[in-house]
Amino acid sequence: MARITSFEQYQEQYKKSVDNPEAFWAEQAEQFTWSKKWDKILNWNFTEPKIEWFAGGKLNITENCLDRHLPEKADQVAYYWEPNEPTEKAVQLTYKQLHEEVCKFANVLKKNGTKKGDRVCIYMPMVPELAIALLACARIGAVHSVVFGGFSASALSGRIQDCDCKIVVTSDGAYRGAKAIPIKAVADEALEICPGVEKVIVLNRTGSEINMVAGRDVLWEDEIKMVNADCPAEQMDAEDMLFILYTSGSTGKPKGVVHTCGGYMVYTHYTFENVFQYPSSGGVYWCTADIGWVTGHSYIVYAPLLAGATSVMFEGVPTYPDAGRFWQVIDKYKVNIFYTAPTAIRALEASGLGFVTPYKLDSLKVLGSVGEPINEEAWTWYHENIGKGKCPIVDTWWQTETGGILISPLAGITKTKPSFATLPLPGVQPILVDEKGNEITGNGVEGNLCIKFPWPSIIRTTYGDHERCRQNYFATYPNLYFTGDGCKRDEDGYYRITGRVDDVMNVSGHRIGTAEVESAINMHIDIVESAVVGYPHDIKGQGIYAYVICTNSKKDAETLRKEILAEVTKMIGPIAKPDKIQIVTGLPKTRSGKIMRRILRKVAEGELNNLGDTSTLLDPMVVEEIKAGAIK
Ligand code: WT7
Repeated sequence: MARITSFEQYQEQYKKSVDNPEAFWAEQAEQFTWSKKWDKILNWNFTEPKIEWFAGGKLNITENCLDRHLPEKADQVAYYWEPNEPTEKAVQLTYKQLHEEVCKFANVLKKNGTKKGDRVCIYMPMVPELAIALLACARIGAVHSVVFGGFSASALSGRIQDCDCKIVVTSDGAYRGAKAIPIKAVADEALEICPGVEKVIVLNRTGSEINMVAGRDVLWEDEIKMVNADCPAEQMDAEDMLFILYTSGSTGKPKGVVHTCGGYMVYTHYTFENVFQYPSSGGVYWCTADIGWVTGHSYIVYAPLLAGATSVMFEGVPTYPDAGRFWQVIDKYKVNIFYTAPTAIRALEASGLGFVTPYKLDSLKVLGSVGEPINEEAWTWYHENIGKGKCPIVDTWWQTETGGILISPLAGITKTKPSFATLPLPGVQPILVDEKGNEITGNGVEGNLCIKFPWPSIIRTTYGDHERCRQNYFATYPNLYFTGDGCKRDEDGYYRITGRVDDVMNVSGHRIGTAEVESAINMHIDIVESAVVGYPHDIKGQGIYAYVICTNSKKDAETLRKEILAEVTKMIGPIAKPDKIQIVTGLPKTRSGKIMRRILRKVAEGELNNLGDTSTLLDPMVVEEIKAGAIK
């Protein structure tokens, strides 16, 4: 089925996808290489939940990402890799070269004992070998679990243990802006409590001195010399696991979201081509995310390769060596499609137009936004100053659990509206419900966003704990997938995501659970109890505000603050450090002992005179103290 090229076609396809989802997605799936066709297009119920797309079908996603393109695109660039340091040599990999590297590293994984179904933890910087490592796992049917390079040893070990990884792929160090990060040392610390890990494969990125554990650690560069580039692709069932990716929820530790091979392949490819209008909008695409997050999995690794696109992959940060880096890289590679996060846009906007005007940016055709709501001001700045008023912005709403984009304009086809993700993609059936789960119909309404029918890349389970998956996403409202987001539907039927309605924060596009930060803070010896909430932050979207109760320690507030930040950095990583810490003697609790977060949120937002009903509090005086000590 051809890509959608007009709004009328969008409406037709949307209707078709709702009237007959199975025929709609089967038609999409036909274009791929399957070694055996599926027996059944869809089996599903949202009660267990159990969802199977293309069950019985056999495929390997890397054959579809790589081998399938070799006859036509062997010498086309798959990745332009742009290093952190603009003066370091850039690297490019053609489809043929990428295919070869993936096969070789797949053989390295096998040589080191990796088998189909084994979990491989990948903890690496944004280098081409990171994409190669994911694809090499997929090649042999191993399940990758990528952990973002900014997570701490403690966060890393938790993720390795949870899914019982046998192999870890990492690097000596990492460059991020002006910083060098000792990745291997962090991994070593994590591995002290991960006895199940048998092999660690270490890439040399920074040439730094590292500790190698005999019998466990091997070097990427040594291993790769010992294998050939012949690696037949393992034939996977469409519902075999492709990867696990950990993400934060409102309670407890992060959960391993599981995606499977067939549906994920079909859906990410479909959304990439339609949302960005690839290839008619141009052949060079750049998504600035890190592969450590789902955006990178779906829209740096899998979807662009499935589509045979040429991508830029960037190691560094938007502000290094200065705030013009993104724009310089866009000109350098003549990027046509640029996909980034609102937090980056706001930070670059704040740096001033002086960093933008030196660049032409005339190759740009489509701009994308992802990860958090984009405010109208940032949207307009992006549209006018980067897109020069002529590039459509696709504000793409989705989640780790959805695998791919669910609500978004189609570039140049759907009329956009600042800060609206606009309309559902074909195959996606959103509904808004009230607290009790009653559907809110009509337009000009607001409610909790749910989806009532499975799309091919919906979450299948949370690793090792299916009940948690059911509880989290399918139990709040019967027979609906609950997103955790609040949403408005305006008079035109356009969707606008208003943010999380649960205890999940979104800080610079990073998803962080309040409970995780609280348990990290509570590790500090002087802290008795804490409560964490998000509050609006000009650049980060949300900042983290922590209320803490201390023992009668003699430490001054500043020392305590620094120690708390260190504790959070140690337990989770620097991304979860609270922006504000207020020491309090009590928290606003109901008589049944539940913390009234609504009040804490209001105080954090600076709305001290609008706290609502506080009469059910056990001790209303606590609120007065909190108000008096609020941090501006
Ligand atoms: C949460 C999911 C989507 C991949 C990266 C984040 C928020 C995401 C948007 C958007 C408003 C958005 C939601 C969602 N979110 N995109 N375009 N507009 N909000 O994936 O870490 O799983 O976070 O990010 O709150 O639930 P994630």
